Amino acid sequence: MSFDSASSAASDRQTAGGPGISRTSQAVALTRAALVRPHSAEGDPDAQRALCAGLTLVPPASLRPSIEARTRFMDDQVVTAVRRGVRQVVILGAGLDDRALRFRTGGVQFFELDHPATQADKARRLRAMGAAGPTLAACDFESDSIVDVLAACGHTLAWATLFLCEGLLVYLDRRACLRLLAGAASCAAPGSALAASLATYESPAPAAEVVAAANARRRSAAAEPWRTILPREEHLALLADAGWTVTAVTESPSALDDVSHGRGSLLVAAAPALTAGPGVGAER
Ligand SMILES: C[S@@+](CC[C@H](N)C(=O)[O-])C[C@H]1O[C@@H](n2cnc3c(N)ncnc32)[C@H](O)[C@@H]1O
Repeated sequence: MSFDSASSAASDRQTAGGPGISRTSQAVALTRAALVRPHSAEGDPDAQRALCAGLTLVPPASLRPSIEARTRFMDDQVVTAVRRGVRQVVILGAGLDDRALRFRTGGVQFFELDHPATQADKARRLRAMGAAGPTLAACDFESDSIVDVLAACGHTLAWATLFLCEGLLVYLDRRACLRLLAGAASCAAPGSALAASLATYESPAPAAEVVAAANARRRSAAAEPWRTILPREEHLALLADAGWTVTAVTESPSALDDVSHGRGSLLVAAAPALTAGPGVGAER
């Protein structure tokens, strides 16, 4: 499915900045644009700022510590993977992620998946920059199979892939998280890796109560509600159920000043489980 031909409920979402364009991705990108970060020899160190051209949103300063930690972690995963010869990077829920340009490297292909309106906006921005780079694909992880989407956009199943899943899973319901992660695992040749951020909590409260309390504190909850916040061990178990073996876990600062239920965020690296079967959503 190409980014301009997709039709889904996603395109009906309305947010400021254009119908259906993710405002949370803009807030993250604007915050990231102010950070000092590495880049590859061929990469564009100004890419994040250029991708944010014309955005008027002012992200809350409280976002910075969590985005800084997340960015460092994800950048490091990309640099490490490329260094050890991984030739495909799939960015799930990419928004205005600049890594395809920042870490541009001959022979490495970046694939970016997100909602149609957000992808159309990204494509316009890339054109305005005159920047060739990522392959953009439009999809809705709540209803589409990434196995099909990746097959249609030229992902090579036999080659190792780094999957980035930054600031995304919290926006999907639990079933969609499992399906997405299992789909990625089924496309993960030996040598592949996953880097993901997970929203967690520590309290005996049911997850639905925690999610409701968290959304009540967020201005962007109406357009882009959080859906999956789980106890730490349960979230890590979800990754295992989807066919990933966790190799590293780091605590990240919270994205909000005002948290309840011991909410936190984990940055996780994982490898495809050796014994993983085809898994949910593995149609290819
Ligand atoms: C908080 S933003 C993070 C963007 C990017 N990963 C980053 O860190 O800059 C969440 C992104 O996930 C995308 N997203 C959320 N739910 C989605 C879904 N069901 N299908 C496709 N993309 C989705 C949004 O459009 C948005 O771009």
